Amino acid sequence: MEIEQLRKYMKAILSEKRYNHSLGVEEVAYDLGLIHGVDTMKASIGGILHDCAKYLTESELLSEATKYNIDISEAEVKSPQLLHAKLGGEYAREKYGIDDQDIINSIKYHTTGRPSMSTLEKIVYIADFIEPNRKPIPILDKARELAYNDLNEAIIYISYYTLQHLKDKGRIIDPLSEETYKYYVNNRKF
Ligand SMILES: [Fe+2]
Ligand SMILES: [Fe+2]
Repeated sequence: MEIEQLRKYMKAILSEKRYNHSLGVEEVAYDLGLIHGVDTMKASIGGILHDCAKYLTESELLSEATKYNIDISEAEVKSPQLLHAKLGGEYAREKYGIDDQDIINSIKYHTTGRPSMSTLEKIVYIADFIEPNRKPIPILDKARELAYNDLNEAIIYISYYTLQHLKDKGRIIDPLSEETYKYYVNNRKF
């Protein structure tokens, strides 16, 4: 499916704010793809589709996840919004004809990350955080600088901030988010 067509679908189902966010992620993913040697079309598709299941309510997310045989973790039962990523991967395949597993994984893991991500997965995870429509927060400049220079350091920086932010707010943390942070810290190259 052409990227223009995917944009039209996203515009039709997402709120204006989330659609603009998705366009921003698409654009940043394209740039990061150029810089880090990933097919820019794959990066763009991962970017525009990454939140394609984020318009569902919590109960819809749970019932859709069950329908698609997604393993629902304890964290996801408590915080069904987490499921929009895994379900988005399934939707990308079924509703938007994406058969590239790397693109599907970049959607599935865009919220938590995971150990040993592919370059494309890293790019979508990072682009989701740094895209230009994000509410300005002090750490964005540093996160953007890292994203253009060192994807692994950008992941450490963003995942650390995200974990602290969730802890401060008393929100549910998916254990995979912690695994991501630990993995990239332990595999740091100096
Ligand atoms: Fe998301
Ligand atoms: Fe997003």
